[in-house]
This record gives sequence, C-alpha cells and structure tokens, in this order.
Amino acid sequence: MRKKIAAANWKMNTLQSEGKTLVANLLSTLPALSESRQVVIAPPFTQLVNVTAQLQGHAHIHASAQNCATEKSGAYTGEISAAMVTDAGAAYVIIGHSERREYYKEDNATLVKKSDIALENGLQVIFCCGEPLSVRDAETQNQYVETQIREGLFHYSTEQLKNIVIAYEPIWAIGTGRTASAQQAQDMHAHIRSVIAGKFGAEAADDMSILYGGSVKASNAIELFSCPDVDGGLVGGASLVAEEFTGIITAMVNS
Ligand code: 13P
Repeated sequence: MRKKIAAANWKMNTLQSEGKTLVANLLSTLPALSESRQVVIAPPFTQLVNVTAQLQGHAHIHASAQNCATEKSGAYTGEISAAMVTDAGAAYVIIGHSERREYYKEDNATLVKKSDIALENGLQVIFCCGEPLSVRDAETQNQYVETQIREGLFHYSTEQLKNIVIAYEPIWAIGTGRTASAQQAQDMHAHIRSVIAGKFGAEAADDMSILYGGSVKASNAIELFSCPDVDGGLVGGASLVAEEFTGIITAMVNS
C-alpha cells in the first residue's frame, strides 16, 4: 500500500528544550493519522531518545535519524551506527540527503553501504535524490536522478524495496524559498516511478512513496501534494515551526 508521509528534517537545529516544545505543540494539534497517512520526525541524534519517548502512544508518527554510519560497530570515532539508531527507538533513517552528498562527499557507493546496514537493522530508509541547478538548466535532470536511483537502489529485492521511501529534493529548491512548481515535481516523480517500474515492476512502483522536498510550506503543500505522484513531503525549515508543519501534515492527510 502506498503511504502518504509528512516528514520533518530538523537538520542541525534545536536544542533539547526547543525540540520538546516543538513535538508537544505538534502533538496537541495533530490531525488523525492512519496506516496510509503518516508523520516522521527527524531530530538531531541527541534528541532521538526524547522524541521517541514523546511519541509513545501516538500511532503512525515515527522518529527518524538524519544519517547513520557505513559500518556496524567498532573504532569509528564520532559515528552513530544503524543499530544505535534502532536502539534509540527510531523507525526511519534519512540516507543521501544532498547536504551529506555535497558537504561530506558521500557518493553513491557510500550511500549503498548505509542503506544496506540500515535495512539490516530493521530501519526504513528515506532515500534522497535530486539535481543541482546546473543539471536542471541543462535539462538533464531525468538522467541525473535516474543514475542516483539506479546506483542507490537497483541492487535491492522487491521485498527490500518495501522498506524504502524516495525523497526527491531538487538542490536548487532546498532552503532557497524557490519551490519546484507542482508540474516540475509531478514530472520528476512520474519519471522516478517509471524508473522503479522498469526495474521492479508496476506493482512495486505503485506502492512506492515518493516525497517532494525543497521549500515546502503550509501554503504550497496542498498544490504539491495533490499531484498524483507526489506522496507527501520532506520538510526542512517549515518543520521547525509547529503551526507550519501542522498545516503541511493537514495537507498530506487531506491529499
Ligand atoms: P527546506 O524545506 O528548508 O527547503 O529543506 C528541504 C530539505 O532539505 C529537507 O530534507
């Protein structure tokens, strides 16, 4: 079954007290969720345990990590393993965010290791893809994103794919206030779905949740989420404001 998801990526923002207030405010205004209408919150690692505790008793709202290590355990100073993320109570992990690809030079081979180990530890993977502005200007975004999906996901079985959500985040739309138009989002999401169908079959493609990320706000979420291939959003800045994110969740629930 294809799920619609509103996912909050807090990035490197919020101290513990701020995170607690944000989650409490969200929970107090949350519309009814269901198996097919879910919310994910990805705080910094230091708040995963807090957020998980706050979400206890609330069905269909899950905690996520923003990253995990390539290795299982051992002498990797400063790293957080997928097992530790599971142990902290998270159900998801974001892999391949463009900020990780760009600032920490994570290439597709590194991301495969991370996704593999996350799945082995029972996590669901939010796999990010998306092109920079130069690629969009050259109109080669479809091939660019297809390569990211091919190298990142094509080694999985159809069974494993059920634990993967794709997030399309055009880099030129992240934190810039410049959202992709609903048509641009729909076109790319339909392309991604056809790439998945080509490898895994129509049923797997139809079941796949494909989120849009890049300057999603309460004011543009309704139009974006009404596109047939846009199954919700991965939200940065607007997820740090409870009212805004509640508006985005409501748009997702009603889509
Ligand atoms: P913004 O919503 O701040 O543009 O960030 C999008 C994003 O990168 C979510 O992962």
